[in-house]
Amino acid sequence: MVVTPWEFSGDIDYDKLIQRFGTQPLTEEILDRIGDHSGGLHLQLRRGVVFSHRDMDRILDWHDAGLPFVLYTGRGPSGPTHLGHMVSWVFTKHLQDVFGSKLFFQITEDERFLMRSEFDEGIVRHWAFENALDLMALGLDPENTELIANIRHVPKLYETALKVAKRVTGSTVRAIFGHGDDANIGTMFFPAMQAAPCFLASARSGERVPCLIPAGIDQDPFWRLTRDVAGKLRYPKPAQLHCRMLSGLGGGAKMSSSRPETAIYTTDPPEEAEKKIMDAYTGEAGGVRSGKGRKPAACSVYNYFFFLFEESDDRLRELAESCGSGARRCHECKAVLSERVEGFLLEHQAQREMMRGTVADMLG
Ligand code: TRP
Repeated sequence: MVVTPWEFSGDIDYDKLIQRFGTQPLTEEILDRIGDHSGGLHLQLRRGVVFSHRDMDRILDWHDAGLPFVLYTGRGPSGPTHLGHMVSWVFTKHLQDVFGSKLFFQITEDERFLMRSEFDEGIVRHWAFENALDLMALGLDPENTELIANIRHVPKLYETALKVAKRVTGSTVRAIFGHGDDANIGTMFFPAMQAAPCFLASARSGERVPCLIPAGIDQDPFWRLTRDVAGKLRYPKPAQLHCRMLSGLGGGAKMSSSRPETAIYTTDPPEEAEKKIMDAYTGEAGGVRSGKGRKPAACSVYNYFFFLFEESDDRLRELAESCGSGARRCHECKAVLSERVEGFLLEHQAQREMMRGTVADMLG
């Protein structure tokens, strides 16, 4: 398996990732502590979609002592938002609701500009706005959320990014991100920009304000670098909650815009999303026509229910059992999922339109 910020492929074994990246599994104790605040656990915690962490226990200690922490997540604006991107944002919104934390949401216009030869500032600016609409349409609190678009808002981050950059060598960046000698120098500096929001609340207030990052596990290399530097700068090390990646409708490790027919975009007309779902590859679950041997967990359609579209654990279990026994056929699951996704898209698209003014103000 290959897991980096730009490549996510192979047979992903999440337990092995915990070992490889040196993170911690989410224990019952931590889940209970989160549950005490939220009154019942979010489905992503109950099902292990959020499966690993660093320092979540410290964040809870801090919060329980009555002290504030901030949330931080982000998006590289390279195109329309798909449901895979939304998994960690849905969870972030939940955390904001439960803990009342301020969210920094970084939109890495610079990262996309630097890494994609065909992208100019106009394109990244366009996608930055479109992606921010998707975030805010989920109901994040505009008063308690700060959008940081890296090119437009560079003065907010630059001083902190410089402090980070001064303490990271080129060979460290190469070792963590695998850049070759031909990498442009902007990509070498960029990790300092992604690190900066982790320290922004502390830098602004002059106090220690811890930061918790809910995000896909693919972003972890950035946090390893950032945690190393934190000590040197006397800032709290950023904590993480890591999510699994949602697979595309064609199977494979993660939903990807490089295969648009297998990704559901938030702006897809519902009929188009329905067609994608009806054409989905159901893998080992669908290939076996009846009886034993079906594996719902390997089915992309099942995973949509699991990650986002079935709130009830009982119904999810029933679904898995009836698939496994052959009683339920793929087209039934697809039809139910299409209906749910259609409902979601209609609501989300309406919210998105309503947020245009707010997001324009937030981006300034
Ligand atoms: N590098 C991320 C991407 O390509 C964007 C990003 C910036 C991010 N800051 C973040 C993602 C913090 C998660 C958390 O999508």
